[in-house]
Amino acid sequence: MVKVITYGTFDLFHEGHYRLLKRAKALGDYLIVGVTTESFDKARGKLNVIDSLMTRIENVKRTGFADEIIIEESVGQKFSDIKKYHIDIFTIGSDWEGQFDYLKDHCKVVYLERTKNISSTMLRAKKRKIQRIGVIGTGRIAGRFMSEARSVSGVEVQSVYNPHPVSALKFAEQWDLDAYRDIEDFYHNVDAVYIASPHETHYEYIKAALEHGKNVICEKPMVLKKSEAEEVYKYAKEHDLILYEGIKTAYCPGFHKLLGVAFSGRIGAVRNIEACFTKLENPQNRELTDLAYGGSFLELGSYVLLPVMKFFGTEYESVRFETINGDNGLDIFTKTSFRYPNGIATVTVGLGVKAEGRLLISGTQGYIVVGAPWWKTSYFEVHYEDPNRVEKYTEPFLDFGLRYEISDFLSKLNANGEEDFKLTREESIAMAGIMEKFMEEERKIDGTNASVGTQRS
Ligand code: CTP
Repeated sequence: MVKVITYGTFDLFHEGHYRLLKRAKALGDYLIVGVTTESFDKARGKLNVIDSLMTRIENVKRTGFADEIIIEESVGQKFSDIKKYHIDIFTIGSDWEGQFDYLKDHCKVVYLERTKNISSTMLRAKKRKIQRIGVIGTGRIAGRFMSEARSVSGVEVQSVYNPHPVSALKFAEQWDLDAYRDIEDFYHNVDAVYIASPHETHYEYIKAALEHGKNVICEKPMVLKKSEAEEVYKYAKEHDLILYEGIKTAYCPGFHKLLGVAFSGRIGAVRNIEACFTKLENPQNRELTDLAYGGSFLELGSYVLLPVMKFFGTEYESVRFETINGDNGLDIFTKTSFRYPNGIATVTVGLGVKAEGRLLISGTQGYIVVGAPWWKTSYFEVHYEDPNRVEKYTEPFLDFGLRYEISDFLSKLNANGEEDFKLTREESIAMAGIMEKFMEEERKIDGTNASVGTQRS
């Protein structure tokens, strides 16, 4: 008996899939079809699969070609399946030509010609309107956004705006976009905007984009005043628009797994949080020279505040900042302490002092620890009183990780059943409030006049 195996996602089952399975079956006597799980698809960057695993399995079953259906959950499984099921022929579409030649030592590998002009990607795009995104700002993070957006099907970054035409043109050329000189034209040609301009310009751009009826993802810190955050979220809600603060950790699968583990009660009640993020920055860079809007807390604070908001909420009893300032008065290191009715948190950021970038969540039964870079959570451990008992969790974090927030934003735009914000309005507003408090207490800057803050240690 000749045993054949093939694998696929088989999302929105189409003629290409049917023809592939038919030919795969014809190669032998017994056909096994591996259907990928949702988490495996996510792990390999397929973020927008529409059909559930059950539906996809059902559709494969309905063709009548599969003698057995298995699920594909991990990298490396193909090799072990071939051994386990005594496979004679591995087959897959010609879009994978050459990529499975490594299996040739173990079975025959056949690439079947792909059916032209049909794919799940095409059907997904038809089902959902492609969202045209315009980028405001052309810095490093905007470049990252570009490369990440390309891995999310259903969005297309089409244009860029920067008040400095030279920067806009350069960015447009690099990423093959349209650069607009007139911001009205820019808004006219997009469905959503991604704002990656300097912090202090976010508020005006968000307002303008919303007023033009556009959905918005804005880089963190979204705004630096609580009232401004309240105002823009209120406007968005009233006009049925989506406004996302782009703190990538909030949307990253590993961080969600961690929240899930902690909320399931494994470590008991959470009582203490410590989070640290430091990144030594060149003293000449904007982050350490912009006297009004630079400094460690404004730059990195959003990341460390996130776990505090997630575990303890937005209603803290007190918050206290301790800063070490550089010669120009900007904080090169800031420690922030919170007291809550049921717990305490200490979060640390630094652009000029290095420390261990770790996240620690302590509970009444145990603790969760994530090493640097915990803000791109891909691995964490759960520890208990018994030091021999350690649980280890992993979850992929791909490239720059902005694809998760873009994909989430897209699901929200398509109202595709995705749960509410991974970062709630309330959390985002509270963070703006904390930034504001920091500015009032520590920055000692009145408008344009930058006085030097007190040095503390
Ligand atoms: N396939 C095919 N002809 C097509 C589309 C897919 O022969 N027009 C084959 C693939 O080569 C693969 C199998 O069907 O062997 C399952 O492919 P899958 O990745 O699930 O389908 P795609 O339509 O290629 O999905 P996507 O657009 O998400 O990549």
